[in-house]
Amino acid sequence: MQNRRQLVNLALIGFMGTGKTTVGRLVADLLHFDFVDTDELIQQHTGRAITDIFAQDGEPAFRALEKQVGQELAGHKRLVISTGGGYPAEPGNLAGLKAHSLVVCLWAAPEKIWERVRHQSHRPLLQHPDPLARIRELLALREPFYKNADVLVNTDLRSVREVAQQIVLQFRLANRSKR
Ligand code: S3P
Repeated sequence: MQNRRQLVNLALIGFMGTGKTTVGRLVADLLHFDFVDTDELIQQHTGRAITDIFAQDGEPAFRALEKQVGQELAGHKRLVISTGGGYPAEPGNLAGLKAHSLVVCLWAAPEKIWERVRHQSHRPLLQHPDPLARIRELLALREPFYKNADVLVNTDLRSVREVAQQIVLQFRLANRSKR
C-alpha cells in the first residue's frame, strides 16, 4: 500500500499544544523543506484571525476553509505541513494528506497539553469553563483519527529537538523503504 504512495511532503497532525508548529519548523530546517501551517494559510487567505472566523461564521465555516487550504497543498513538494488539531477528524482530510505526505501524529497526555496551552488564548475550542475536561473529551473523540497516522510520536518526555530528529529519521526510512 505504502509503496504506491508519493511521500514527497511530511504532514504533522495532532492535538492543540502537541508542538506541531515548533517541531514542524525545525523538521523543515533539518530536511531543507518549506514549512506551511494550515491555520496561517487560512489567516493569509482571509485576512482574518482564526478566533474571528469561529466567532463570526462558526466552526463549520472554519472547517470548510481548512479543507480548502489543505487540498491546495496537493501537487506541492518538499513541504512540512502543520495542520490544525481538528483537521484529520474531518472526512477525507487524512486520506488527502496521505496521498502526498508521510503523516506523523504528535501525541501528548491531556495534562501535558493543558500545561502547554493554559497561558494562551487564541484557541476558541478551549474557551470553556473546564478546559482540561474539554481537552480530555476532544482528545478521546479524535484519538481514532490521530491513530491513523503513519507514525505516532509521544512528545510527553521528549524535547522539541528529539521529536524533530525522530521524525526526520522516520521520513528518511519511509522513503528508503520505497526504493
Ligand atoms: C483547532 C486547533 C487549532 C485551530 C483551531 C481549531 C482544533 O490549531 O485550527 O483553533 O480543532 O483542535 P492548533 O492545533 O495548531 O492549535
